[in-house]
Amino acid sequence: MTAFTYREGALHAEDVALARIAAEVGTPVYVYATSAMEAQYDALVGALAGLDALVCYAVKANSNLAVIRTFARRGAGADVVSEGELRRALAAGVPASKIIFSGIGKTEAEMEFALRAGIGQFNVESEPEMIALSRIATRLGLVATVALRINPDVDAGSHAKITTGRKENKFGIDLAHAADVFRRGAALPGLAVRGLAVHIGSQLLDVAPFRAAFDVVGTLARALRNGGHPIDRLDFGGGIGITYRDEPLPDLALYAAIAREAADGLGCRLVFEPGRFLVGNAGVLLTRVLYVKDGVSQRFVIVDAAMNDLIRPTLYDAYHGIDPVLAPAPGAPLDPVDVVGPVCETGDLFAAQHVLPPVAAGALLVIRSAGAYGAVMASEYNSRPLVPEVLVKGGHYAVVRPRPTYESMLGLDRMPDWLGP
Ligand code: LLP
Repeated sequence: MTAFTYREGALHAEDVALARIAAEVGTPVYVYATSAMEAQYDALVGALAGLDALVCYAVKANSNLAVIRTFARRGAGADVVSEGELRRALAAGVPASKIIFSGIGKTEAEMEFALRAGIGQFNVESEPEMIALSRIATRLGLVATVALRINPDVDAGSHAKITTGRKENKFGIDLAHAADVFRRGAALPGLAVRGLAVHIGSQLLDVAPFRAAFDVVGTLARALRNGGHPIDRLDFGGGIGITYRDEPLPDLALYAAIAREAADGLGCRLVFEPGRFLVGNAGVLLTRVLYVKDGVSQRFVIVDAAMNDLIRPTLYDAYHGIDPVLAPAPGAPLDPVDVVGPVCETGDLFAAQHVLPPVAAGALLVIRSAGAYGAVMASEYNSRPLVPEVLVKGGHYAVVRPRPTYESMLGLDRMPDWLGP
């Protein structure tokens, strides 16, 4: 299902013409389709039907408040990795009890904020972190519900920079130490150590690594149960992949069956933390062609979006489909071009030798699959103001993050007194 379709030769987001958004909001701009987000959420929840499951949207994938609220309204919780994300989840209306705080480097201030907010679960990734959380919770007279994140030493088989479950990765507690850390945690004040968590990486297209990781967690949970520990939750993390080019998707029913089997007989609540799966293909980066330049060996299509707006292609060599907003005339020639941005780096390249119909200056293009890890990873590099965001629902759209003005961008800096006013 895609929410981005051509109607009478013009690409729409749901019922809104992208050309209209470009004219009214300007480019570059991220455009998200509500229906695509809801369809993905419903598909996952549907596959998990019959399980005691909670889907906690991984806010890092797209942390716009309107996006978080779209999922919260459907019953999702949130997986957060910083006080900023936690504040976003709360502001968007996610109940604190459905918020999970992940991450290997929570500061004491962040833990205190989360404890006071009454979040549902801390995913603890090391013994020193566990001891710090115990100390802070005890000082506040509160109890932190804890799941220990295990490093199962399973290779997710995705890009090295987004693989997290191998023993040489910084994430989770080594399996060899996990039972001991759990026992020590159970004896600490201010903690209710109740579960295990795992997250082996992102953009997984094969279910086999999920099976291996979930089984490790299920087996450890059984052993701890037999040792008298009250385990009532298993957090199976995120990582379900999406189609960027033509990759076959992991089968959701199989994914759910694997989770069910791994947790069989434990009676635990199962938590899932999908990010990319829920938003990745619900968003595009809409951009305008500035110039078409013929080099010696190739044609460059220079657009007004750049690597600071969407860093995935240069950071991970990621493929993102690129299409014209105006459907090409039937039989139009297709030629390979390099789609590049204005930033002064050779790496500011969205696609090399990408096949496109002829485009001229002023034409609009979409860079697809940009709903996840797009706007959230944007920067102001080259002093380009952060890219705005638009949310579409049916025939309506709203600017859910306006483009900052140059004044507001410059206004963040301060002049020291020795340099004058
Ligand atoms: N839970 C934890 C603990 C995570 O670290 C992550 C992602 C997720 C859930 C959500 O994973 P997802 O379902 O989205 O795969 N910037 C990279 C992706 C980094 C993912 C980091 N952790 C990219 O653009 O590909």
